[in-house]
Amino acid sequence: MSLAISFDEEQRIFTLSTKHATYQMQVEEHGILLHLYYGKTIANTPLSYLLEKTSVSFSGQPYDVGDDQNISLDILPQEYPTFGSGDFRESCFSVIGTKGETGADLRYVSHEILNTKPKLSSMPALYGENVPTLVITMRDTFLSLDVLLYYSVFEENDTIARSVVIKNTGADTLHVNRALSACLDFVDGSFDLVYFPGSWGTERKVERLSVNHAKIRLDSFRGTSSHQMNPFAILCEKNTTEEQGMAYGVSLIYSGNFLIEAQADQIDGTRLVMGIHPEGFCYELSGGEELITPEVVLSFSDKGFSKLSHNYHNLYKEHLVRSAWRDKRRPILINSWEAAYFDFNGEKLLKIAKEASELGIEMLVMDDGWFGTRDDDTSGLGDWVVNEKKLGMSLHELSSKVNDLGMKFGIWIEPEMINEDSDLFRAHKDFCLRAGDRPYVRARNQLVLDMSRADVRDYLYQSLSLVLKSAHIEYVKWDMNRSLCDVWSNDLPPNRQGEVYHRYVLGVYNLLDRLTTTFPDILFEGCSGGGGRFDPGMLYYFQQIWCSDNTDALARIKIQYGTSFCYPPNTMGAHVSICPNHQTGRTTPMAMRAIVAMTGTFGYELDPSLLTDEEKEEIKKQIAMVKQYHPLLSNGDYYRLTNPFANERYAAWEFASPQKDKALLCFVLLRAEANPSVIYLKCRGLDENAVYQINGEGAFGGDALMNAGVRVPILRNDYQSFIFSIEKIEDIQA
Ligand code: GLA
Repeated sequence: MSLAISFDEEQRIFTLSTKHATYQMQVEEHGILLHLYYGKTIANTPLSYLLEKTSVSFSGQPYDVGDDQNISLDILPQEYPTFGSGDFRESCFSVIGTKGETGADLRYVSHEILNTKPKLSSMPALYGENVPTLVITMRDTFLSLDVLLYYSVFEENDTIARSVVIKNTGADTLHVNRALSACLDFVDGSFDLVYFPGSWGTERKVERLSVNHAKIRLDSFRGTSSHQMNPFAILCEKNTTEEQGMAYGVSLIYSGNFLIEAQADQIDGTRLVMGIHPEGFCYELSGGEELITPEVVLSFSDKGFSKLSHNYHNLYKEHLVRSAWRDKRRPILINSWEAAYFDFNGEKLLKIAKEASELGIEMLVMDDGWFGTRDDDTSGLGDWVVNEKKLGMSLHELSSKVNDLGMKFGIWIEPEMINEDSDLFRAHKDFCLRAGDRPYVRARNQLVLDMSRADVRDYLYQSLSLVLKSAHIEYVKWDMNRSLCDVWSNDLPPNRQGEVYHRYVLGVYNLLDRLTTTFPDILFEGCSGGGGRFDPGMLYYFQQIWCSDNTDALARIKIQYGTSFCYPPNTMGAHVSICPNHQTGRTTPMAMRAIVAMTGTFGYELDPSLLTDEEKEEIKKQIAMVKQYHPLLSNGDYYRLTNPFANERYAAWEFASPQKDKALLCFVLLRAEANPSVIYLKCRGLDENAVYQINGEGAFGGDALMNAGVRVPILRNDYQSFIFSIEKIEDIQA
């Protein structure tokens, strides 16, 4: 039995232990599951002494407590608070019974400690061998309803993954109108909340707010996780920085509507809840049916944000992202979008491929415009049939010719969408989401397919499988270019329409599951107008996600900075594009564009015939460099050395090998100054007792590089950049 989960029978206390943290909860005498503590390791002390059972006016007591005014759920910290129980804070769970009565009252029944983590059916989740899992069964006896709370402990990553299974054990039909995945209650706290809002082209900015008595609500009800708010947040101490202070991460493995809410309560405790957004959600559970909530990944660091990010990076690299591509260097690709947009044929693509192959680029990706009748974004979506007339050849011929150049070949698809001007729409109008008889809400001239329908998914599976089998396709970019509005399904009765948002997401996962299982060797890249669905649910199926449609290197520094708080750099799709940049009009040096793209998956998004000879030579060198540094870029610990939202003068970040023998320090001068002060970059993750060289020269102690820093040569122009390659040459003997 693992030591990561223990149960004290006498005091009915559960303790979950990770490498640096303790999580404790207690079943109190009435069966209410109280939260006691989450934070830095506390070895042997039962933490029930922390609870002050006190009386607060205007906060009720559970029915079986009698007149004891000292037990009020309104102020006690809980594991899975319910609506209507006398707890007036944000709750996790609520259900409507047969008489229309709403709420829930959950009490402990039993628990089980498993040696392995069970698979979450129909939902992406963390995986791993021998991951101990605690399952606590709670029951609402008035409704014949069991709620199973799952806690899986990833000790090494300081992580606890939580999800909930709701089972209707009776005969009556129930309606679950709130089913969040986790609550984090703290008896005290003076916290900040760090979160990641944005928009198309400015994804995952970093904001920080003090958690006070007003509710802070981070959410999306766009049907996807969205550009506008990422399903990840950090609760931290006021003084937490990159290198010090406590930080608690909450990350939701889900790609649809979500809610994260934080608030200080009336006696200054702190509550954070997270899960599927209750807005528009009402799930019917007939007798015997169950509902599974997505997994929340909690992680803890007592050494600031860097350590918290490393926890998530390592966890997601090892226990979330799958496929043969997970640990491999991804092919350096050239994407046709910014090179040609819709204006291409097979010959033009082959010309791009030929020139790219001469530079050392390894894969051609044919973006939007190759199927149905699609020469702009008004038609064709839904018709997954190759437009041979436009290409001037079959897909097989095109892929073979690309392969003949020594390159791999990949394609773009957008399965979840449909244009009204398509054969699919003309044949199956009912395949779309639509709010009853109301007119459609259009976005980018397209409507959304009802992914909750099995026949829609079957059509997509079959038509896409045919395409993928018809040629040698080794990469697929899966796009999704609008938010959901008319969220109503023709396939479900009126009383089940509150399920459509969630069923849509489950439908997408189902199709992804089928396609990635049928085509296990294909490298999949997610996309949603850039980074509109950059979430862990997608990373379970896609090894990488296009980080943003904004390819301007200056803008990308911020986007990748924000994304890196939760997501590993080797999952961030990043390309070098042509200048002036197509999104911002800015011109930046090729070298800077490469340093920024190198932080992600690396590729190009340009027409090589527009490059000068000098730029072509530079690209060859960049490709050699990316190959050389791949182990560090892919497996190194990533450190944010500057905050680009605060430091407008320069940006720096670093990859350091876990063995501390190599590091790459990346530097970009954002704004040159007259008579500038010298910049010193303090490295992270080196060995204080070792000697290093920088770019093959000198001898610097690890302690010097980390405490005094690397001196950056004075630079005179905006956007000049440097890579410092730091290598250990010897250990210092004690
Ligand atoms: C979205 C993607 C782009 C490109 C276009 C094609 O905007 O984010 O990269 O694929 O669609 O229509």
